[in-house]
Amino acid sequence: MNSSQAAKSFDLTNVPRPVGIAARNLIKIYDDPSSDSGIIALRGIELNIKPGTFTSIIGPSGAGKSTLLNVIGAMYPPTAGELYVGQIPVHSLRGWQIDSYRQRIVGFLWQLPERNLLPELTAKENIEYVMAVANYPKDKREERIKHLLSSVGLWNRRDHKLGQLSGGEAQRAGLCVALANEPALLLADEPTGELDSETTMEVIGYLQDLNRDEGLTMVVVTHDGRFERMTHQSFYILDGQISGIRRSVTGETARDWRSAVREELAFVDQFGNVRIPSELRKKHGIEDYVKFVSEGDRLFIVPANDEEAAK
Ligand SMILES: Nc1ncnc2c1ncn2[C@@H]1O[C@H](COP(=O)(O)OP(=O)(O)O)[C@@H](O)[C@H]1O
Ligand SMILES: [Mg+2]
Repeated sequence: MNSSQAAKSFDLTNVPRPVGIAARNLIKIYDDPSSDSGIIALRGIELNIKPGTFTSIIGPSGAGKSTLLNVIGAMYPPTAGELYVGQIPVHSLRGWQIDSYRQRIVGFLWQLPERNLLPELTAKENIEYVMAVANYPKDKREERIKHLLSSVGLWNRRDHKLGQLSGGEAQRAGLCVALANEPALLLADEPTGELDSETTMEVIGYLQDLNRDEGLTMVVVTHDGRFERMTHQSFYILDGQISGIRRSVTGETARDWRSAVREELAFVDQFGNVRIPSELRKKHGIEDYVKFVSEGDRLFIVPANDEEAAK
């Protein structure tokens, strides 16, 4: 399907779940008042995320993680490129479509608890509030709230306010708020950034459970490499580009970040370009050229030096 066909056939009120995500050559340039050129935060991001999977996007500070998450969440548009969430062309949403997309299709979980929860409301009231704003069906609210709070072990804490919750409890309550309106996609920006190691593992465990039980597509951006093994696949991001992809060989997420076998993948873009990870380039002495050697059903990439390539 080409993009103009896809753009015609989407309906924000009836999105088949779970949703996949496809990003093609996403570019984001921020205006920079102090210079003529802007700040390039995303330089041609390509993503393929299967419906219902739990994905981590891992990279250091300044790599473009929050920018990418905000573009997926339609908090602001990309400068160029295409982004599809299911059949929805997120890059070209306008006006009311953006509001509707943010309220119904995506849920956000932020690093800071006070961005997820209003401090003057209890955990339960916070969920009720976002349901009211999005016009979630009244007759389904009570049941949904009980289900969500129970599934993160917080039902007995429902009447507590932010100041009365521990860091881990606050993120679990924030998760309920993010999922209140049954989004098709959960986007989380450093959701464990404020938590200690043990609480981080606990929160990841709840994310895994909800990913499985709610058939929900989840994307977490983080600098924490431990997410790699505990998610189905990880994209490594550096300087606004995807530098590597690792995924679970068994198709399962691990409960322990030290276990599980991963395989390293490379994305082949629409022009046939493949990025060779820098550690492999270094290890095999690859400089300007490689040779392709095709043997049966296998294709080998063999380092070639300049003289050889010039022959
Ligand atoms: N609103 C903004 N205006 C200008 N530059 C920004 C803005 N937000 C982020 N940047 C810049 O874009 C780059 C990527 O930032 P960001 O997406 O926040 O990275 P990360 O979340 O991985 O730390 C950085 O160089 C950052 O300084
Ligand atoms: Mg960030």
